[in-house]
Amino acid sequence: MAATILRRASSSHLGWRAFSAKAVTGTSLPKQWYNIQADLPVPLPPPLHPGELRPCTAEDFAPLFPASLIEQEVSTERHLDIPEEVREVLSLWRPTPLIRASRWEKLLGLPENVKIFYKYEGGSPSGSHKTNTAVPQVYYNKLAGTKKITTETGAGQWGSALAWSGCQFGLPIEVYQVKVSYEQKPYRKAFIEACGAEIFPSPSTKTAVGAKALEEDPQCPGSLGIAISEAIEACVSSAGEAKYALGSVLSHVLMHQSVIGQEALEQLKLFGEYPDVVVGCTGGGSNFAGIAFPFLGQKLRLEAAKPNVRFLAVEPTACPSLTRGAYAYDFGDTAKLTPLLKAHTLGSGFMPPSVHSGGLRYHSMAPVISHLKELGTIEAQAVQQTAAFDAGSSFFRAEGILPAPEATHAIEGALQEARQAAAAGEPRVILFNMCGHGHFDMFAWEKYAKGEMEDFAFPEEELKEALKNVPGLNGVDWPRSA
Ligand SMILES: Cc1ncc(COP(=O)(O)O)c(C=O)c1O
Repeated sequence: MAATILRRASSSHLGWRAFSAKAVTGTSLPKQWYNIQADLPVPLPPPLHPGELRPCTAEDFAPLFPASLIEQEVSTERHLDIPEEVREVLSLWRPTPLIRASRWEKLLGLPENVKIFYKYEGGSPSGSHKTNTAVPQVYYNKLAGTKKITTETGAGQWGSALAWSGCQFGLPIEVYQVKVSYEQKPYRKAFIEACGAEIFPSPSTKTAVGAKALEEDPQCPGSLGIAISEAIEACVSSAGEAKYALGSVLSHVLMHQSVIGQEALEQLKLFGEYPDVVVGCTGGGSNFAGIAFPFLGQKLRLEAAKPNVRFLAVEPTACPSLTRGAYAYDFGDTAKLTPLLKAHTLGSGFMPPSVHSGGLRYHSMAPVISHLKELGTIEAQAVQQTAAFDAGSSFFRAEGILPAPEATHAIEGALQEARQAAAAGEPRVILFNMCGHGHFDMFAWEKYAKGEMEDFAFPEEELKEALKNVPGLNGVDWPRSA
């Protein structure tokens, strides 16, 4: 077996005598992306043109994305080749390790037949899974002759990933970062500038959308919806020089993340295991899709080693799109510049509270994930941020990796699965995505350590109010609008 097996020494305070935590890389970086659209039992509802309410065409997306990415967005091919130039860059940190959380299992006192594995994506240049899609997006833009890419970022992870990828292919990057995160994480700005990219707090005065938001509320903390509007405005007002890039939600972005799950499938074979449940946190859905879809594809094709394998998306109670949002056509941004996507939404004007998981503060969800949830293929759960940080803290103490606030939600989901299995006396193999490290998130970890972290959940009335402006709840629906 060509596997690289690393063994970590035992820790006496956990009472171990022998080597008991293992990490494997032992597989190669995939040569192709996996596209779940080939295996969907029911095709995805199409994006609608916001003015004409007809399915969007490639031309509708052309001002924002290069043709190659638009083709990927609508492709129903099961596998698409990863260009060698992209693989060469990804090979700096991929394949990422799959780690048995043996020390955490021990700390939690789990029985031997409840096993937890995690895929660690924090070893990428920007510290999370986001670089998996940033590299190909910059590559295809460069090939298409794009002169600059504009984007938004919540937690700063996506902006960092795109900024770093920009310097791989010599493409300038302009980032609009949600103001509350910009202020909480000054070193994300420093990282992005170290890559030679530009960064602005959003709302900013650089765009009409930003200026309007500031006029309405000079203290506006910002939201991903506003930052997306600013990045799109900056792109479309560039006289064709710039394109726009999104770090989640769209189908091609989710597909680029499939390297995670494809590697995990092969790596779990080295352990002789197959998951009973695959867990990921969800903001726009890309890291969850990345780890889950290759397994879900097997289930849909009736090829899964465990036909009842389950898939659990974990989101914050502060921004509960999948668990409490409406499934309807809605805009992806606050200024209503994007096409209408059918997904679970809290309304494009929704202003989530300033919780620490900046990357999970998005009003909507990836259409593919929403579609799969509606088909009953995946499950979703919302957790409070203090519970998530409690889980993340115990994971850190045992496994030595300080998680990003977003990732703590997946850790809490995995923990609940483990506790349920142990209480029921059932065997369970749990696989979760440890999508990023929290080294830029010390503000949040400091608040947690001081006991100053707050929980949020929305009163039903407030949610109803937020949903009032969702076009899909006011008569816009496919195929009625055809
Ligand atoms: C570390 C991390 N995890 C998760 C997310 C959420 O995004 P997605 O649901 O697309 O994985 C983000 C977004 O910024 C992030 O930075």
